Amino acid sequence: MSNDSLHREALLKAENSIAKVKDSVSKDLMRLKYHFMAPAYWINDPNGLIFYKGEYHLFYQHYPYAPEWGAMHWGHAKSKDLVHWQHLPIALAPSESYDLHERGGCFSGSAVDDDGILSVLYTGTVIRDGAVIQTQNLATSSDGITFRKYEGNPVISTPPEDGSSDFRDPKVWKHENTWYMVVGSSKDGQGKALLYKSPNLRVWDYVGVLAESDGTMGSMWECPDFFPLGDRYVLMFSPMGMGERKTIYLVGDMDYETGTFTWDTIGDVDFGYEYYAPQSFLDGKGRRIVIAWLNAWDWMPWFKNFGPTGKNNWCGAMSAPRTVELGEDGRLSFPPVEELQVLRREHYHYTNAKIVPGTPLLPDYTASDCLEIKAELQLSGSEAEEVGFILRASEDRKQQTVLSYNLRKKELTFDRNRSDGWSEGVCSVRLEASETLTLHIFIDTCVVEIYVDHYRVALTNNIYPDPASVFLDLYAVGDTVIVKSMDIWKLRSAW
Ligand code: FRU
Repeated sequence: MSNDSLHREALLKAENSIAKVKDSVSKDLMRLKYHFMAPAYWINDPNGLIFYKGEYHLFYQHYPYAPEWGAMHWGHAKSKDLVHWQHLPIALAPSESYDLHERGGCFSGSAVDDDGILSVLYTGTVIRDGAVIQTQNLATSSDGITFRKYEGNPVISTPPEDGSSDFRDPKVWKHENTWYMVVGSSKDGQGKALLYKSPNLRVWDYVGVLAESDGTMGSMWECPDFFPLGDRYVLMFSPMGMGERKTIYLVGDMDYETGTFTWDTIGDVDFGYEYYAPQSFLDGKGRRIVIAWLNAWDWMPWFKNFGPTGKNNWCGAMSAPRTVELGEDGRLSFPPVEELQVLRREHYHYTNAKIVPGTPLLPDYTASDCLEIKAELQLSGSEAEEVGFILRASEDRKQQTVLSYNLRKKELTFDRNRSDGWSEGVCSVRLEASETLTLHIFIDTCVVEIYVDHYRVALTNNIYPDPASVFLDLYAVGDTVIVKSMDIWKLRSAW
């Protein structure tokens, strides 16, 4: 049997596995209403994000046999507007000597348009004699749906001296007629991003270390992504071993002559527990858009048991698409794409409402498991110690998630210790707000995405409350706080 027919057979088997459960999965009340999910079973990193022939394509790390991580496939979907997604046949399945292994597979990578041919570069992972072998590989498609693995794979078969066997997640782009690739790696306990170049996506030359940890930025850089923004360059990556910091960006300047990136600004793409492996792409409107996996590895079973949706045969989702913008101070902001506004339904508007301590502000008609909230709270003139939202509360408020701002500590906190009996943790970010606090919040069944500080701070977390826990309160502690203005929209499903 030819290699291509082995691949087709593996894809067919995977499709059959999904087909058996997808109808029952779609009935689960925990399913998200407007975040991207696989039709069933496991999902992790977004891969191969591209605006190709007028449509958005999203590939993703996928295990089509169980709601847990396993031999990696590439799931596939497309969209005309980044909100409504259509599932497509699985694009890649493990089938070759360089990607066929039950603890390996077709790991993360990226897509480019090579003169009309949709070309994806991915990491093949196998384990031989206990050693992990990671290589970079090419697959191409002329119809944007059916992919053929290149006969000359791997296109990069060994890591360079500067790297190690952790050698994965190629992100490819074109600069002045040359293809470039950044690959995540590590050496002597320091994470790094390695740079390659190629005339044709098939033959690659190692250029050197694009950037590396200074000793404080983690031991392995997963999913590096490198792109121009304004007159600068951004390197984004997901460091392993950097404590609570999960997605980092560096802003600096690129010298293609020497292959070096000199950065001066560091920041966090998101401060929540569940925002990992973000990947960016440029769309037809010239926007740099980023989508991430709504989980992180410390959530995995070898740290903690699987989440509450596993029993319903699915696990994992993608964040809302966000644009990446460069501020004058060199920092990045990540506003969600405006296309999401098509989801808005019933609208409630408030101006100069008072949040009185002991009396929560919002009436029950705002109750929903799918909401968008934009609020501007007046902090100046108030002696309050704390102000915040109670999200996804049960009628008796025993179940609740608290988003609070402490005016003394100048800290924004997301507390999910009482969210559902399963989730836990309190994550905080320091935030200088003195005059007003402006919040933009998206709630979707089991995801909460929060934006503050002009979208320079994002906080993304999962919670799994009962479907009936839909109440929303606005509360203050210590003194009255004025809501200068607030808009609340109930959101409809995009599926
Ligand atoms: C990031 C990651 C990547 C790898 C993929 C495997 O979440 O660990 O480094 O390619 O997931 O599924």
